[in-house]
Amino acid sequence: MTDMDAYPDGRRQSAERLMAVQSAALACQNLLLAAHAAGLGAGWLCAPLFCPDVVRAALRLPADWEPQALITLGHAADGGKPASRKPLSDLVINR
Ligand SMILES: Cc1cc2nc3c(=O)[nH]c(=O)nc-3n(C[C@H](O)[C@H](O)[C@H](O)COP(=O)(O)O)c2cc1C
Repeated sequence: MTDMDAYPDGRRQSAERLMAVQSAALACQNLLLAAHAAGLGAGWLCAPLFCPDVVRAALRLPADWEPQALITLGHAADGGKPASRKPLSDLVINR
């Protein structure tokens, strides 16, 4: 988060922080898509948000890094099975 812009007011600083978290989420999404394209299974775990000190120590991360997520990657033991998905029409508004 050290690369974030600094604002004098909490409202804009909060938006800046949210943008940083959104950026990390998008990077993770790209990783998940790349894993899928490579034939790997992947899962997003939010656990690091609950124990950032443990994650920083285990991965020897700089003290000012905020672990956002843990992405597990691997080959499915049984080949995997497609997950059921909601229809797109349940998730988007078409105007
Ligand atoms: C932000 C975020 C955090 C998540 N954290 C966890 C988690 O801590 N533990 C977990 O079992 N699943 C977690 N999930 C859910 C899984 O990563 C995954 O999305 C879910 O199992 C559905 O998998 P699918 O999209 O392949 O069907 C999280 C998902 C998101 C989007």
